[in-house]
Amino acid sequence: MHNFRQITENLFNVGANDRRITMFENAHPVPRGMSYNSYLLLDEKTVLLDGVDNAIIEQFWQNLTAALNGRHLDYLVINHIEPDHCHPIPELLRRYPGLTIVGNKKTFTMLQQFYEVDLEGHMLEVKEGDTLQTGKHNLTFFMAPMVHWPEVMVTYDNTSKTLFCADAFGTFGATDGRMYADQYKFEEEYLPEVRRYYATIIGKYGRNVNKLFDKVANLEISMFCTLHGPIWRKDLHLILEKYRQWASYTPEERGVVIAYGSIYGNTALAAEILANKLADGGEKTVKVYDVTATDPSYILSDCFRYDRLVFASATFNAELFPYMETLLLDLKAHNLTNRTVALIENGSWAISSGKRMREILEQMKGINLLEQTLTIKSSPKVPDVEALEELAKTLLAA
Ligand code: FEO
Repeated sequence: MHNFRQITENLFNVGANDRRITMFENAHPVPRGMSYNSYLLLDEKTVLLDGVDNAIIEQFWQNLTAALNGRHLDYLVINHIEPDHCHPIPELLRRYPGLTIVGNKKTFTMLQQFYEVDLEGHMLEVKEGDTLQTGKHNLTFFMAPMVHWPEVMVTYDNTSKTLFCADAFGTFGATDGRMYADQYKFEEEYLPEVRRYYATIIGKYGRNVNKLFDKVANLEISMFCTLHGPIWRKDLHLILEKYRQWASYTPEERGVVIAYGSIYGNTALAAEILANKLADGGEKTVKVYDVTATDPSYILSDCFRYDRLVFASATFNAELFPYMETLLLDLKAHNLTNRTVALIENGSWAISSGKRMREILEQMKGINLLEQTLTIKSSPKVPDVEALEELAKTLLAA
């Protein structure tokens, strides 16, 4: 049975939810599943903007067939060639032999890397600013390289003022009936997962995100149609402001993230003591994470949100505790900058976790790394508690 959604008189979402997925990209936990949007424009020509993931392919065929209602599919616009949006392409070519695929040069190179399909007579290669008239609607294509992958582009419908924006403004989580962002409580229901999605999927490419915004700044936009999650149709400035902050690596608010890697609980105790001192000193937001208990994507997301970070780690086999190393390499890979960072190291012999943490963080630009690493030998003692109190004062004043 079909289950497509109508957005406007002639625009439909023929995508669906996948609630069975546990790890998006086999890397990031998605406890509330994922949604994959695929937009069908029924104009004089019929146009599908992006496809879906293999996981929901049967529902997609039901939706597409029903929404087309006997019509042929004329165009497939590929804004993004990543497989979570492209699984149906070979079958689309079989079902709709006159199909024209719209993409840029890189799209077609990567399309043929992923799929062995004969594109002879099926390709319409577009460049920056090219347009396509589909009847009443006029589409313009803008390149958006690295807003997640190098071939990404966005499509602006000049007629309906809709921006089909690929992964931009996407979020983790299936949509539960509500298909518009204004139907969710922004702070509580929407923001945590859209932030985590941004940080993990697009966070590395802030410069490219800003370039895209500069490019479309003069367009009148009434809707953002993203490939994951709810559509934006009201108060677009809310998500734009967040994207501008994240893209410039500006903390959203004051707060301290303490992430610790502890083997027998002693480094954990140091982290907890520091959290208490910070709260007692008036810090309103302190977030404490055990790096073995929380997936790095959640910690990364909070590191994008808050301005001061503390990493406390045990030494493990005369090296850095591996879960902490994973987290720090993840932060580095996402180009996080503009943060004040303090380090706490612990060990019983050959203490070296601080040195290794410092090595990673010193490779990151714009990190204000406090000069002194707080060193604990095996377990926190009175002088260590005093040192943690001093560290709390430094962080409160930062
Ligand atoms: Fe949703 Fe970058 O793919």
